[in-house]
Amino acid sequence: MNINGQTQLFGIIGHPVAHSLSPAMHNGAFAAMGINGIYVPMDTVDSTTAVAGLRSLGFVGVSVTVPHKVAVMEHLDEIDPVAQRIGAVNTLLFRRKPGEEEVVVRGFNTDWLGSNLALADRMQLAGSRVLVLGAGGGAKGVCFGLVEAGAEVIITNRTEEKGRVLADWLGCDFVPATGLADIHADALVNTTSVGMEPNSADIAIDPDLLNHFSVVMDIVYAPLRTRLLQEAENAGCRTIDGLSMLVNQAAVQLKIWTGKKPPIDVMRRALEKELEQRKSRK
Ligand code: ATR
Repeated sequence: MNINGQTQLFGIIGHPVAHSLSPAMHNGAFAAMGINGIYVPMDTVDSTTAVAGLRSLGFVGVSVTVPHKVAVMEHLDEIDPVAQRIGAVNTLLFRRKPGEEEVVVRGFNTDWLGSNLALADRMQLAGSRVLVLGAGGGAKGVCFGLVEAGAEVIITNRTEEKGRVLADWLGCDFVPATGLADIHADALVNTTSVGMEPNSADIAIDPDLLNHFSVVMDIVYAPLRTRLLQEAENAGCRTIDGLSMLVNQAAVQLKIWTGKKPPIDVMRRALEKELEQRKSRK
């Protein structure tokens, strides 16, 4: 990497952010695309001053993660209509009008596209039926994307009230845990943190029910082969791991920032390598 006066600045704001896999993915992509850019993690407590700082420092593109995805919206000049409907932004694009000093900051949401693209690799979304486990921030993007793509979504969640609020917002059905045995669908998506290290023996659904689904996707990526995905394979399902969604949402970000086609395979390999290195450092 040769950092010089032409190097374009990118990064991620969040708190905490040290664990983020995005730098590995985006810097790997820049190298493969021949882009003179650098992507850095920026631990950020206050999104108000952060956006002002990024704006004046000449950043080109910035990812936004927890806890700033909603709060950052009030500091932007423009918000993509879909991000507005979701009520959360995970991508900022800074544009300087030619010949002008003024920088325009626009916010987007690529989370929902990431899960749609990951699922669309294995199935047709329009007209499909999908059961989603969980009702937190991850579920919101996944469910929104599915509804947008014309799928019928059924939500289940440990805390029923939270699940019903998400289902009502999207106009889809909610089913309590006691009703899961009767649900058959084209796909199952786990958006909960169940099964994440160090609790990798946990699983968010009774494994005996997995043969009710053709495709199973997990958003947990540590471990990569979660117990859910292993049991789903045993039950004959096609599986999609947690890195697929992550890579696809980042690829959409890169397209917004550079206008170029992102090297998805390179990004995925960069992620796998980073995870391997972290494992061996433990
Ligand atoms: P995120 O924004 O990453 O989705 P979140 O808002 O904390 O995180 O949501 C986490 C989801 O995982 C929620 O649906 C949560 O269920 P509750 O709404 O009942 O809290 C779910 N979850 C987390 N731990 C769980 C567990 N041990 N069993 C079942 N669901 C769990």
